[in-house]
Amino acid sequence: MKINRRTFLRRSAIASAGLGIATVIPSEARAAGKTSPADKVNMALIGCRNHGFKILRDHLNFDDTNCVAICDVDSSVLNEKANDLRNNYRQNPRLYSDFRKMLEQKDIDAVIIGTPDHWHCIQLVYCLQAGKDVYVEKPLANTIAECNIMTDAAKYYNKVVQVGQNQRSNYAFIESMKLIRGGSIGKLRKVNIWGNFNYGIGSIPREDEPVPDGVNYDMWLGPAPERPFNRNRFHGSWRHFWDYGGGLMSDWGVHLIDMGLWAKEVVEAPGYVMTYADNTSVADRQRDSFDTMTVVYPREDYVINWDMTAGVQQGPWEKLYGVAFIGEKGTIVTDRHSYQVYPEWDNSTKSNKTDPKHVTGIREAHSPHVRNFIDCIKSRETPVCPPETGRAAAIHAHIPNIAARVGESLLIWDDANSRFTNSEKANELVTPTYRAPWKLPKIG
Ligand SMILES: NC(=O)c1ccc[n+]([C@@H]2O[C@H](COP(=O)([O-])OP(=O)(O)OC[C@H]3O[C@@H](n4cnc5c(N)ncnc54)[C@H](O)[C@@H]3O)[C@@H](O)[C@H]2O)c1
Repeated sequence: MKINRRTFLRRSAIASAGLGIATVIPSEARAAGKTSPADKVNMALIGCRNHGFKILRDHLNFDDTNCVAICDVDSSVLNEKANDLRNNYRQNPRLYSDFRKMLEQKDIDAVIIGTPDHWHCIQLVYCLQAGKDVYVEKPLANTIAECNIMTDAAKYYNKVVQVGQNQRSNYAFIESMKLIRGGSIGKLRKVNIWGNFNYGIGSIPREDEPVPDGVNYDMWLGPAPERPFNRNRFHGSWRHFWDYGGGLMSDWGVHLIDMGLWAKEVVEAPGYVMTYADNTSVADRQRDSFDTMTVVYPREDYVINWDMTAGVQQGPWEKLYGVAFIGEKGTIVTDRHSYQVYPEWDNSTKSNKTDPKHVTGIREAHSPHVRNFIDCIKSRETPVCPPETGRAAAIHAHIPNIAARVGESLLIWDDANSRFTNSEKANELVTPTYRAPWKLPKIG
């Protein structure tokens, strides 16, 4: 069965009831200006180049938002995006290169954080302290300690925070959760998750070079260690370096592992994590992160497995990435565009143990995720992906990276005390060392 956008939006709205997921109110009528100025949410954006700007555009596609400020440390990015907003969205935001200055602007209601991961913690806390609601991109943060600070801060300042794990608003995953909870596949025994993407192998080596004109590199690095400028560690490809990101493991891992947690409504860090990691593709790449990882997260009554082979464009069930929810009556295989139920066969009754089903043509879910955020800003309800949910997924990604970096195949995490019980080397990577003058944010 194929579904079109209208059907998807209608079904998503229906599906939202009782599942704690986004209510979809499509607005294709921004230009019609149906919302009074008093009911509009004034948005600002920090980090404009790629995904942050996409999320801002998704906000502006609803007629009850404005963009009043944007901030980037690369002036060419800032100016290009300002032109785009003027020409295509009739928005004339104030432009900033320092987010702290931007946060002094009184008319900002909410901020999108679209910067590299190493900035999320500081910027989220500054935004909350300035009284703003926040849409912060995933992974919640680049270290476990920062995740904890951010979760505590969102509670303390009592603001609406949506984490950009948009699969929480995706029809394919929402329907998969309904099937699992409705007993369609019986007891859920295992969740197999995989993500094989070419970019995960890292970048072809480049020499360091002078900082490009118009880039405030010191403010791009922020709390990260000082080092010469290199394009492989800059726009987009920073993902492969521990100072700023966690490789494919955290980039896609948080999205997909989140689905394995959601299946049983787990909002916790893992206890035991078994990790294999190596670089098994081409050797000649500039990266810290690993291209090949197999991780096992045993839980009380089921197990989650993460498997990645970056650079390979094939995967189980003929999918580059996906999630297989394996139950005693059947398996549901889901990605962002489809889900399929594969029944088990009952030999005694000569029938399927559950009904087969296959739905394709599903769209990505950034827009309903954004809609949910705007609705929550107005209602003051908790959005579908609050910091606790982002924290759980991020810690599931950070622990295997830590394990691989310190050469431990098993790590045991004591979440209450925020430490590993079996590796002091691993404990050294729980909290980042910030470069002065930046300090880990304090709450209160
Ligand atoms: N939810 C999703 O599906 C999804 C998809 C892609 C990226 N992301 C997330 O979005 C974030 C950004 O990723 P990207 O691919 O857009 O990165 P990017 O490198 O393309 O863009 C980041 C932008 O932030 C700017 N920046 C850096 N430091 C800044 C600072 N201190 N103040 C203001 N601007 C600053 C950079 O100049 C750049 O323009 C990451 O956390 C990433 O994981 C999420």
